[in-house]
Amino acid sequence: MLRIEGMNTHYGASHVLQGVDLDMPQGRISAVLGRNGVGKTTMVKTIMGLVALSSGRVAVGDTDITGWPPNRVARQGVAYVPEGRLIFPDLTVIENIKVGEREAGTAWPLARLLELFPSLRERSASKGSQLSGGEQQMLAIARALVSDPKVMLLDEPSQGLAPLVVRELARVIRLLREEGVTILLVEQNMKLAEAVADELHIMVKGRMVYSATPAVFRAEEEAIRGRFLTV
Ligand SMILES: Nc1ncnc2c1ncn2[C@@H]1O[C@H](COP(=O)(O)OP(=O)(O)OP(=O)(O)O)[C@@H](O)[C@H]1O
Ligand SMILES: [Mg+2]
Repeated sequence: MLRIEGMNTHYGASHVLQGVDLDMPQGRISAVLGRNGVGKTTMVKTIMGLVALSSGRVAVGDTDITGWPPNRVARQGVAYVPEGRLIFPDLTVIENIKVGEREAGTAWPLARLLELFPSLRERSASKGSQLSGGEQQMLAIARALVSDPKVMLLDEPSQGLAPLVVRELARVIRLLREEGVTILLVEQNMKLAEAVADELHIMVKGRMVYSATPAVFRAEEEAIRGRFLTV
């Protein structure tokens, strides 16, 4: 559904992504793990067209979206839930969701989103700044969903959330998969990634160095953690 081939991205002279390959099957959850600063967010931003790639190819289904600007990538069905959520603090919950709306109809109208996220229904008139971290994360996901995406890019959604909230997040991510959304989950939280992902990948210094199913990953976890993930 989403395929990256030989993605290279530079910030000035700094060569951050060094030939990233990733093939995400439709309706599956692919997780990318990696230490701080290896290039996970840069990969997501490059897919979205927020950062220019130096070479390589990105495709959604049969459509080559390489070099497309962000609004066009979004219209192709890719939604982005950024690291840090980036909720509008002065807008209400409902207004924040409406920011993500497109002209065409959606499989995720407001009523359905508020059903999926009961905590947001209760707080629908609250300002973004008044929400807890967990509520802000759910709101960021709701704002992405209202655009009716085929592919959703989630950048460290568990960051700063209590374990109970992370469990709720896992429930929502699984539910999205059941609804046919293809998900790229970038995480430092190995537990969340292991709990929901169908495929796990590890990035080191701008390259994918390891891919496995959760079962294989779990069996090799100790060794992998030491080699690729701990500082
Ligand atoms: N706008 C930018 N300009 C220059 N360098 C940048 C910029 N954004 C990120 N970098 C650098 O690029 C490298 C990769 O950053 P990136 O944010 O993609 O890593 P990450 O894997 O998402 O890290 P984290 O786990 O901390 O979110 C880092 O060395 C970072 O300092
Ligand atoms: Mg990041």
